[in-house]
Amino acid sequence: MKIIFAPIMGVTDHVYRQAFAQFFSGVDLAMAPFLSSVQARSIKPAYLKDLLPENNQSLPVVPQILSKDPDDFLFLAHKIVDLGYSTVNWNLGCPSPTVINKRRGSGLLPFPGLIGQFLDRVLADFRGKLSIKLRLGRYAAEEIEALWPIFNQYPLAEIIVHPRLGRQLYYGSVDLDAFGCCLTHSKHRLVYNGDIRTVQDFRDLSARFPTIDSWMIGRGLLMNPFLATEIRSFHNPSLKSGKEMAILRAFHAELYEKYKGVMCGPSHLLSRMKGFWSYFAENFCNPDKVRKKIHKCNTPDQYLTVVRSLFDSDGFDSSPSRKTPVSG
Ligand SMILES: Cc1cc2nc3c(=O)[nH]c(=O)nc-3n(C[C@H](O)[C@H](O)[C@H](O)COP(=O)(O)O)c2cc1C
Repeated sequence: MKIIFAPIMGVTDHVYRQAFAQFFSGVDLAMAPFLSSVQARSIKPAYLKDLLPENNQSLPVVPQILSKDPDDFLFLAHKIVDLGYSTVNWNLGCPSPTVINKRRGSGLLPFPGLIGQFLDRVLADFRGKLSIKLRLGRYAAEEIEALWPIFNQYPLAEIIVHPRLGRQLYYGSVDLDAFGCCLTHSKHRLVYNGDIRTVQDFRDLSARFPTIDSWMIGRGLLMNPFLATEIRSFHNPSLKSGKEMAILRAFHAELYEKYKGVMCGPSHLLSRMKGFWSYFAENFCNPDKVRKKIHKCNTPDQYLTVVRSLFDSDGFDSSPSRKTPVSG
């Protein structure tokens, strides 16, 4: 079984991925948040910083590109292959209005002809392997049905399906029946992605889709970085141990120090850490209150004081999965 860390733009950059791999296990590889293809035929080295091999020593990574232009895609994808990556992922899932209105991400899903042309052109010349990450459609799940005859013609490494529609953004439920239909139509290996937040979620899904052996998890891992280990050990602890809470604290400290070293100034640093806490707060009792406290911080000193008091207090989650206060 393979567990893949989903790309979460603004959170799972190389700093996060490296720190995650230092403290947690159970994840086999991570997909990096997308890079947009560019029309220019030169790319500044800084653009590829997230993917540089020296920034990705601890966890294997699959880079991802957002693009609707096959030549722009090929240009960037070959730069990425030149860094040593064998597989590049094409993003057909992004639901952001600014992206879909330009017919990129899930905005391209209603256009099977354009997707076919893109694959024709890219796969004629691409030196690497191509995988695809997509949703069921922009407006309707019928859109993906029109895509299987096209995808099935091409040699793709795998297809990751997040069974929501673009117009749902991240709300509403995943459509498991539609995912089941994908399984019957696809000749390619499918990866399931969406709303795996607990060991029980995973168990339910793996019972329902026994042929799936690759699972992609995003927000569930951001909220509970132990989730992949728990899934693998079939262990769903009702309480986090003091040791685990100490690991979460050390993980936070490592992230903060690393971001302090690379972010341009305190406001960027704080905004990055606030993004992290929007998920990490789930480890504490009353996550909304924790998020509010963190959100109000205007300076690193204030922030560190609040974080210290959260970790020192008995404020850990009193909800089913975590309760143990951390010591030290
Ligand atoms: C803030 C945010 C940023 C995301 N960035 C990306 C991205 O760069 N590329 C991508 O393919 N998906 C991106 N996603 C989608 C996730 O990778 C994943 O498909 C989605 O969250 C469903 O999985 P989950 O329920 O396990 O989180 C993003 C999701 C969120 C919430």
